[in-house]
Amino acid sequence: MQTSAPTATADQTVLPSVPNPAGGSHDLLDVDPGDRRTAFVGRLEIAWDPRILEPRPWTAEQSRWAARLLTTLPPGPVLELCSGAGHIGLLAVAGTRRELVCVDREPVATAYAADNAARNGIGQQVHARTATIEQVAEEPTRYALVIADPPWVPSAGVDRFPEDPPGAIDGGPDGTDLAVACVRTAARVLLPGGALVLQLGTGEQATGAVADAAAAHGLTVDEVRPCLGGVLVLLR
Ligand SMILES: C[S@@+](CC[C@H](N)C(=O)[O-])C[C@H]1O[C@@H](n2cnc3c(N)ncnc32)[C@H](O)[C@@H]1O
Repeated sequence: MQTSAPTATADQTVLPSVPNPAGGSHDLLDVDPGDRRTAFVGRLEIAWDPRILEPRPWTAEQSRWAARLLTTLPPGPVLELCSGAGHIGLLAVAGTRRELVCVDREPVATAYAADNAARNGIGQQVHARTATIEQVAEEPTRYALVIADPPWVPSAGVDRFPEDPPGAIDGGPDGTDLAVACVRTAARVLLPGGALVLQLGTGEQATGAVADAAAAHGLTVDEVRPCLGGVLVLLR
């Protein structure tokens, strides 16, 4: 494990208190300049390309809620599941001393998350890893806060979003397959007193399959907050 000051990469760098990275490379970001996009999400400049989901501006609301929670949560790092380009987690921890671990199963996504941390000057507190939601549950690191933005579109509706990579939005028959996986993992990796801020498409998803999974794994739904493009759910 590295002891010198770390920087944000998706390949070799290790924060002192979080698990080793699982690979990835900045070669993945060598795309045709015409495909490269950047936009501000909150105060952060975020880069991506069409291989991953375009950051949706309203999701900054998830970051703001997470940032407010961090002022009262126990000490400990933050985990972002299904990070994509990483903007939700980055915006939540920017201006704090919390370490952030961004996890996505797509190496391109974690390469962008690392790159976006570095371009916003917070590379030293961010570690991006390519892994699945389920793999994180098997690791020993414990987190004060989990932020999760799983695919939540029901499979039958994925065709309505032809611009979006299907793997980034397809949440299974009722849209909750990956959200339930996030609840399961959060229940395993949260520190006592920790919290999960989960993004979903509808309130029905929150009160149905997600609430059932939470109850089965020792978490409770504290608040469901409707937003412009979906709903945010706080679980403790
Ligand atoms: C709705 S997108 C969210 C991305 C980003 N948070 C955003 O707002 O643009 C869901 C992300 O989950 C990732 N994903 C899907 N299934 C996953 C799994 N089983 N484990 C880890 N990541 C997964 C996808 O690659 C995608 O980047």
